[in-house]
Amino acid sequence: MKVSCPKVLKLSEFETIARSLGKPLVTSKHVLNADRTVQELSNNGLFSDKDVGWHHDWSYGRGNYFGTILYNVKNAHLSPTLFCDMSKVPESLKQMYSNAVGNYSPPKHLHDLCFTEKQLRILEKQKVQRPFIINHHITGEEILYCSISTIQNNKYNLLPIKEYVESNIYKYEWKENDFLIWDNLKMMHKRNAFKGERMLWRSQFII
Ligand SMILES: [Fe+2]
Repeated sequence: MKVSCPKVLKLSEFETIARSLGKPLVTSKHVLNADRTVQELSNNGLFSDKDVGWHHDWSYGRGNYFGTILYNVKNAHLSPTLFCDMSKVPESLKQMYSNAVGNYSPPKHLHDLCFTEKQLRILEKQKVQRPFIINHHITGEEILYCSISTIQNNKYNLLPIKEYVESNIYKYEWKENDFLIWDNLKMMHKRNAFKGERMLWRSQFII
């Protein structure tokens, strides 16, 4: 969901909106508030200015999945956010992965940027597994879940999924004061590398 905000949001206002959506994820790095539920994403901080490949947030974390809210603080337009709705994949593609299970852990290139050593120890110990075919716990929709850039298995051929995703992109062009809220179970997403100063606030939440 896209919301065009008529004014510049204060951090406390963003925090309140995010909290109204669900139970927030508490994290450690790049946090902006005392409750540690809002993170700053920026060109010289979290995720830097490099490519962020196709993924579902928190694929490597245990428990229910997290929805995500992002707010455009500065120049989000420098890199549009790309989405693919994985509840819309054709039956034939789902059939190819009907028994597949993905193993997830935080990708190496994100270790220093995103996590403390303690978080990494916990996440790697959890060895999260997720079936490729899941049913949405609220809508009941069947979803092909394969977080391409965070999955660790190499025994599955992911090319058919990559090809589908690349040809079924919804591209979001950011405008000033926009925020986006999405269902992270359905919406695989990515962002391309960019140049310049870009900053967003993010909260993740359980629904
Ligand atoms: Fe993400």
